[in-house]
Amino acid sequence: MRKQLTIGLFGFGCVGTGLYEVLNQTSLLQARIKHIVVKDATKKRQIDASYFAYDAEVILGDSEVNVVVELINDSDAAYVIVKRALESGKHVVSANKKLIALHLEELIALAKANNVSFLYEAAVGGSIPIIRNLEEYYNNDSLSSINGIVNGTTNYILTKTGEGQSFDDALKTAQELGFAELDPTSDVDGFDAKYKLVLLLKHAFGYTAKTEQVWNYGIRQLKTWDATYAREKGYKIKLLAFGTRVDDQVVGFVAPHLIPANHFAYNVENEFNAVVVEALFSDRQLFLGKGAGSYPTASAVLSDISALQFDYAYEYRKTNAQENLTLTTDFRLRVYVSGTTKEQLERVKFEEIQEIYHGSTHHFHIGWANFSDLQQLDWNNESDLFLAVLPEGLQLASTVYAEEGQLEAHAN
Ligand SMILES: NC(=O)c1ccc[n+]([C@@H]2O[C@H](COP(=O)([O-])OP(=O)(O)OC[C@H]3O[C@@H](n4cnc5c(N)ncnc54)[C@H](OP(=O)(O)O)[C@@H]3O)[C@@H](O)[C@H]2O)c1
Repeated sequence: MRKQLTIGLFGFGCVGTGLYEVLNQTSLLQARIKHIVVKDATKKRQIDASYFAYDAEVILGDSEVNVVVELINDSDAAYVIVKRALESGKHVVSANKKLIALHLEELIALAKANNVSFLYEAAVGGSIPIIRNLEEYYNNDSLSSINGIVNGTTNYILTKTGEGQSFDDALKTAQELGFAELDPTSDVDGFDAKYKLVLLLKHAFGYTAKTEQVWNYGIRQLKTWDATYAREKGYKIKLLAFGTRVDDQVVGFVAPHLIPANHFAYNVENEFNAVVVEALFSDRQLFLGKGAGSYPTASAVLSDISALQFDYAYEYRKTNAQENLTLTTDFRLRVYVSGTTKEQLERVKFEEIQEIYHGSTHHFHIGWANFSDLQQLDWNNESDLFLAVLPEGLQLASTVYAEEGQLEAHAN
């Protein structure tokens, strides 16, 4: 049976206003916003002032409010709000990937203990319905990989650098258009994509990664010669959140990839997001859509609110079944690494170098490097180096050993 939802909304910015508008245009939902709590009392609002309050308790202390929708841009404040809401027995819908990735297990446990739902479809891929699909649709088909473009800002910048703009110019344009923050660190250094990957790993494989375990390397160091190299080889550079699973080992990291024309993400441009799921029986499937923006993101929030009418909650069935998974670092990557000087480039340890280029402006190596060797450098702060993973560029040590074992057995 549908139940009446009385919403306390935190935040009335890009997504909050979008939610207000889409809710007003949706007749099927038995949901109404009772209060909206925001921060700045001096800001002019476009709707009736009686909605607004500036004290979280107006929502959290109102027993009629049974749903808290958290859409603020401060993950520390959001943590306090979401925790209190769950403890007060209110369902919570949030779009805050950083908050959720940092406190996932605690918030799941709190929701369970208080017999309420905690839903966050909008936190990954904006309008793309990926979390609930991973939870429900792929519940019986064993997933082998999930990867995608989950940050629209960097995808926009990479689209422009692919067309010949410098990174700095492309970032500036993205900032002018409102796609990038004034401090773009979270996007361009891959943190935002990492938080989303943590949620994808949870719902795809049942693995709870700690954010500090997952390597995130972004695109800040990309130079024009890297974009030129990609273009000349028929590749595009895309920032991928990469997750794969082999037996009980999970690989998860965020890094730029050089992708060929037949790659699913090749034509995913500008602020669009895409997630590709590979599963044993259903093979490969692509989810494509707007990864951000007022209405697209609000549509995912709306879908969560709608699900609450029927008491929907994530069950995390994969987590329960797969308690022995580990996040492995025992693999190697085939990478392109460029450096502004030969000396800088030689600081990167390769297991096998397959191609060397020395030019007047820059230098590069292509080859296989152990992931643990690459981890010796703080890549987001290496201004003279750039790295991108090449196609088919991952080998798990266990797979290599197994293949060597098979070869030896064959030779004997
Ligand atoms: N924008 C997108 O396309 C998008 C896509 C996916 C997910 N998200 C996520 O959705 C959330 C909201 O993003 P947004 O783009 O809508 O942010 P935004 O436009 O910057 O708006 C933020 C809102 O939060 C309010 N706020 C900040 N701190 C607060 C506090 N302590 N208590 C109450 N209200 C507070 C602000 O109040 P004032 O109005 O008074 O300043 C403002 O209304 C974030 O977690 C973001 O990561 C956004």
